[in-house]
Amino acid sequence: MSFVIADNIFQSYGNRPILEQVSLEVDEGEFVSIVGASGCGKSTFLRLLLAQETPTRGAITVDGNPPAVEPGLERGVVFQKYSTFPHLTVRDNIVAGESFRRPWGRFFGAAQRAARARADETLVRIGLDHVADQYPATLSGGMQQRLAIGQALVARPRILLLDEPFGALDPGTRLSMHDFLTELRAETGMTVFMVTHDLEEGFKLGDRVIVFDKPRWDPDDPGAFGATITYDFDARNGGFPYQTIKEKTHVLRSN
Ligand SMILES: Nc1ncnc2c1ncn2[C@@H]1O[C@H](COP(=O)(O)OP(=O)(O)OP(=O)(O)O)[C@@H](O)[C@H]1O
Ligand SMILES: [Mg+2]
Repeated sequence: MSFVIADNIFQSYGNRPILEQVSLEVDEGEFVSIVGASGCGKSTFLRLLLAQETPTRGAITVDGNPPAVEPGLERGVVFQKYSTFPHLTVRDNIVAGESFRRPWGRFFGAAQRAARARADETLVRIGLDHVADQYPATLSGGMQQRLAIGQALVARPRILLLDEPFGALDPGTRLSMHDFLTELRAETGMTVFMVTHDLEEGFKLGDRVIVFDKPRWDPDDPGAFGATITYDFDARNGGFPYQTIKEKTHVLRSN
């Protein structure tokens, strides 16, 4: 059985369909890039995986069970807008990320010194070692995002959910974050879902690139139908062979 299964998911807000007939099976350790037009429901799909919302119809399972409501050890998450602890220094933000893995929480004494030393190694890798003693508010947006990514990655969750994590970074920083993510993934074997607007990034990092789109489209009423997965590309095979799951059809009105 696949590690993560979405079985015929429908999600509506009020009477507006957002997602329809979304089915997906992902093996443990796979990296799935998610692309699609703005507003088509990519972040909604991540929220369903996070159990922040329950689908209107259909079910999601992780390792055979409904996803736990608390992300904790199982799932880590980085949204486009950086989310770090404002009252902790940069170094202690990384230590806090690692401590999520420990059932008893915080580190003390020698364990805390060792955790800080590991955090300093991480800070070198993400290029934030020179600001280790500063607070997040004193950093640029790109630096805060790097910190948020570093914090989620050191917790080594089984599933990492990334919602446009590199969107705000300059090209050089983006490349070094790609390397950091690739290395950590190789070390941990974690399963990754990453929403991106950058197709090249999606194919570079992903094993698969899935496309959300609306197969049924009414030009007079763009909100009439929900989106589903229309393509599932094998990114490790030059993007081919790819599977066209649904052809786009225009709904013609009879009146
Ligand atoms: N809680 C909510 N209540 C009502 N509508 C919502 C809610 N959350 C999202 N939506 C709507 O659902 C649709 C999909 O939103 P979502 O944020 O998932 O899109 P997205 O693909 O992530 O877009 P983007 O690429 O711009 O981030 C949008 O039309 C949005 O307005
Ligand atoms: Mg989004």
